[in-house]
Amino acid sequence: MSAEARILPETNASIDEAVERLRSGGLVAFPTETVYGLGADATNDTAVARIYEAKGRPSFNPLIVHAASAAAAFRLAMGDPRAVALADAFWPGALTLVLPRRKEAGLSWLVSAGLDTVAVRVPVHPLAVRLLEQARVPIAAPSANRSGQVSPTKASHVARSLGTGVDLILDGGDCPVGLESTIIDLSQPADRPVTLLRPGGVTPAEIESILGHTLAAPAPEAAEGDAPRSSPGQLASHYAPDAPLRMNAIKAHPGEVLIGFGAVAGNGPNLSKTGDLREAAARLFAVLHSVDADRPEAIAVAPIPETGLGIAINDRLRRAAAPRNTLAF
Ligand code: TXA
Ligand code: MG
Repeated sequence: MSAEARILPETNASIDEAVERLRSGGLVAFPTETVYGLGADATNDTAVARIYEAKGRPSFNPLIVHAASAAAAFRLAMGDPRAVALADAFWPGALTLVLPRRKEAGLSWLVSAGLDTVAVRVPVHPLAVRLLEQARVPIAAPSANRSGQVSPTKASHVARSLGTGVDLILDGGDCPVGLESTIIDLSQPADRPVTLLRPGGVTPAEIESILGHTLAAPAPEAAEGDAPRSSPGQLASHYAPDAPLRMNAIKAHPGEVLIGFGAVAGNGPNLSKTGDLREAAARLFAVLHSVDADRPEAIAVAPIPETGLGIAINDRLRRAAAPRNTLAF
């Protein structure tokens, strides 16, 4: 294999190949009107794990899921009248809505970093739309750059940043907006203020004119890597199981369910019997959710190596293991 990233111009054949790659769990970078996205099938845990691996992120930040139409987006997430009004006004386009996930949609848990919300967006870029329509799966896509680098607005930026970490790059020229989408949190009940999580391609004034009230301001804290400057709830809202969690466990204490990894088998599910970090990342949130649903006294997790995706897995586990903030937020 060459060390060069594959950049393909937009042709029927290149789109067919991109669709094939996506549907078989591969990574495809593609242009949107905002920035290039690093796409994977949002229903495939392993494919989504590969996104985090390629980006080299030290943590699991939830990803934006792209859909071909508003109808398709609202099959993934529950839209209330406010969401429908914003979708009518700005989709397709540079607006992302954070909404409650629909269980039946089959989205990967990893896409939401274990949260019960999902960020959805309907892009307007014709190549992105064609890819979504042909792939017939929702596409999870963060900006197609390594963590901590600037977002790419040309195919060559993607190649420089991700190299062979991506299976192919569809070249659709320059991204016309050149700035990420605006992210709005609509996952709170309708009597709570709507929050701007990240300013972007659609302005707050445009959104406020549709909502009929002002947006709650984004808090300056909680920005992490290339994450948005988001509400204080952003980091605090990371999914944590109800049961207390202990890391680096070799044996279960009484009342504990020990989640295994590799040779440490435990008395609960194993994240990866072969010690494969990609498989462990893919299974992490689903396993935590299912173990926690049985209401154990406590959860323990076998040691996970602090390399590659193990860094993000351990970051997530450390947050879950940290003393709980008893304040409601
Ligand atoms: O313009 C864009 O939005 C580009 C193109 C490719 O669509 N995508 C993009 O994705 O910028 P990304 O992953 O770099 O930024 C998405 C941000 C994440 O940093 C995350 O914090 C926030 O959206 N986000 C995603 N899901 C969320 C959720 N369920 N709750 C709160 N924030 C969420
Ligand atoms: Mg980004």
